[in-house]
Amino acid sequence: MENIIIAVDGPAGAGKSTIAKIIAKRLNINYIDTGAMYRAVTLKCLQNNVDVKDENAVIEMAKKTSIDFRDNNIYLDSKIVNDEIRTLEVSKNVSDVAKIKEVRYLMVDLQREIGKNNAVILDGRDIGSYVFPNADYKFFLVATPEERGKRRYIELKEKGYDGTLEDIINDIIRRDEIDSNREFAPLVKAEGAIEIDTTGKDIDQVVDLVLQKIK
Ligand code: C5P
Repeated sequence: MENIIIAVDGPAGAGKSTIAKIIAKRLNINYIDTGAMYRAVTLKCLQNNVDVKDENAVIEMAKKTSIDFRDNNIYLDSKIVNDEIRTLEVSKNVSDVAKIKEVRYLMVDLQREIGKNNAVILDGRDIGSYVFPNADYKFFLVATPEERGKRRYIELKEKGYDGTLEDIINDIIRRDEIDSNREFAPLVKAEGAIEIDTTGKDIDQVVDLVLQKIK
């Protein structure tokens, strides 16, 4: 496929990454999980006792950070951190890191670089609205907070999470609020984006809906 750009945005747990991964395989294009990039910077802050509310310290940390995607792995400073970035502790702190404009500039540069000469599907919050406003296709996935919380709960349980569903739903609601209300490149439905409500739909149904629009 030529240098096609597909943007998949929406709130936490709406099914973006699951769907984007499958579409990437079907179309034989690259998949970039942009949330993983903000999570990696957050993980590095937590590992180095940098307070995520201390913007300058976070910016300095982000400038010294290398993030890379290879073979379905995410590398933070050359180390694979696929699981470490998915903990609830990272989730609880990531939106404070992601609202910092300078951090976003660094991540967005990387995302645009990857999209420059590649066919790629990216999932995130601002892909269709800010990173690639001229994307070939834009999707906005939504679902109720309860359904999104349940999906994350099942995912985390498989990785040994022993907290409550309520804690996860609260984290999702809180993150959506910070992500939607931040000043710079907030979570919004981009102009021209096709909205899909994934509540009550299984993965195949959503994939079919997306593919129908692309073909
Ligand atoms: O997609 P995921 O839930 O892993 O994203 C984690 C967090 O990263 C989001 O809650 C949001 O704060 C931030 N993010 C963002 N912009 C993106 C992708 C993710 O601000 N493009």
